[in-house]
Amino acid sequence: MHGRAAAGQDSRRYGAVVRREARELIRRGRVAVDGVSVRSPEEKALPESGAITVCGEALDCRRYTWVMLNKPAGYLSATEDGRDRTVLELLSPELRRRNLFPVGRLDKDAEGLLLLTNEGRLAHDLLSPKRHVDKVYYVRVAGRLTEEDCRAFAAGMTLEDGFHCRPAGLEILKADRESEAHVTLREGKFHQVKRMLAQRGKPVLYLKRVRMGDVPLDPALPRGAYRFLTEIELEKLRMI
Ligand code: URA
Repeated sequence: MHGRAAAGQDSRRYGAVVRREARELIRRGRVAVDGVSVRSPEEKALPESGAITVCGEALDCRRYTWVMLNKPAGYLSATEDGRDRTVLELLSPELRRRNLFPVGRLDKDAEGLLLLTNEGRLAHDLLSPKRHVDKVYYVRVAGRLTEEDCRAFAAGMTLEDGFHCRPAGLEILKADRESEAHVTLREGKFHQVKRMLAQRGKPVLYLKRVRMGDVPLDPALPRGAYRFLTEIELEKLRMI
């Protein structure tokens, strides 16, 4: 299902994980209907049958949406912009009404894996350096990458503006006058991959994100196409 994502897929997105979490919350007496604590996971309550609260907070019965986009170059990772096209414009009108936002940024000229969601908490966790979620980028650079470059990445570079990068991975795939590599970061400062490689004298010619955590870019997604995340992919994100 590319581009126009198939209706109905997202209705199955949560499945096992959410059911497990819900049972646990009910067992711990954290769920109430109209102020009365629910004690059995078997008790049925329709959203319209009473005010459901979880840990004292009203339950928002809308389901969250998670989309994987293969971002093409030329689009901003933003929800709106006065001048440039944004990744939101690649989505169907129905999806655009769901208030999705990109989980982190890819530069306008960068391509690859971009998640979009309306689930703020998990999106925030995925981007937090404390959570150690690897972001892996395929890069093509001008110049020959060396083991010294790998050591500089692993040691944690300091950029010219004084920003200290955490130790990062540089796996050389091809070393030549133009080289190719996978860069792994656990943080995401503006233009970070480009700036780290520029500092090593190897300017980036092409950059594509290929993985976030344990979720790789679906190789079957053409540039500009998207699909809903599968339950397994969502489960992997929720386990971080
Ligand atoms: N680092 C960059 O330099 N650009 C991106 O788009 C992402 C990471």
